[in-house]
Amino acid sequence: MSKRIAIVTGGIGGLGTEICKYLARSGRFVVAVDLASRTERVEQFRTEMAEFADSVVFEPLNVADFQACAELVERITRQHGPVSILVNAAGITRDTSLRKMAPEQWIDVLKVNLEGVFNMCRHVVDAMTAQGFGRIVNISSVNGQTGQFGQTNYSAAKAGMHGFTMALAREVARKGVTVNSVSPGYCKTAMVMAVPEDIRNQIVADIPVGRLGEPHEIARVVDFLSADDAGFITGANIPVNGGYFMNY
Ligand code: CAA
Repeated sequence: MSKRIAIVTGGIGGLGTEICKYLARSGRFVVAVDLASRTERVEQFRTEMAEFADSVVFEPLNVADFQACAELVERITRQHGPVSILVNAAGITRDTSLRKMAPEQWIDVLKVNLEGVFNMCRHVVDAMTAQGFGRIVNISSVNGQTGQFGQTNYSAAKAGMHGFTMALAREVARKGVTVNSVSPGYCKTAMVMAVPEDIRNQIVADIPVGRLGEPHEIARVVDFLSADDAGFITGANIPVNGGYFMNY
């Protein structure tokens, strides 16, 4: 069987990079998409992916642009085949308390973190249902479950992602397509390292395992949910947060 085609948005980011590696090791052909403007990071990513040169490629994309998403999916399908796996890992923060939040800080986060999920899913879902196989994994956040000071925008988008996940999971369940969320806690990524050190240290002190997560600990779960034999897990949210938020 030819390799299944996977798209990872935010593919050169802290979590996205590890997700690309895991999917490539599992025999997927991976298209990492991310902003073209991150030129330095694109070069680093290519170096890091040297051992997967045959199975990981980079394509520039702004997930907030509906038409650009359509064109990218069409091009990937033409060049490589229909997309079977979509991991929505593109995400940004614009942290500030609500009383100071500018409309742009609200809109930017919602456009990338939530609308980006719509933009990508909208263009892959028909091909997945036609194949009778698809795996969509949305990277949400523990802060979508608990809320976080300074993150009304981000927490709303991340909670919204899981609502989207459950609704789409119902729509495509009979067609071999699963849709799940993974909710990472605080991990060793540039996004988390940008939180002021004193605040970050307080957060780490509240994590039962006593440390930040490693990006590969998220990637492993994404890989698991993307597997061919993970077809009975759908509409689920898998928390990977070191015990920072436990619920039943
Ligand atoms: N809880 C309670 N009070 C807090 C607080 C908190 N967590 N953080 C700040 N405050 C207090 C301050 O002490 C200050 O009090 P005073 O007014 O009495 O001095 C006041 O609230 C500050 O309020 P501001 O309106 O000035 O807040 P701000 O706009 O400067 O924002 C912040 C502060 C930048 C949001 C800062 O609190 C912060 O960085 N918090 C961490 C946010 C965070 O965890 N982001 C996660 C990013 S990583 C990620 O998102 C990945 C993932 O999925 C996990």
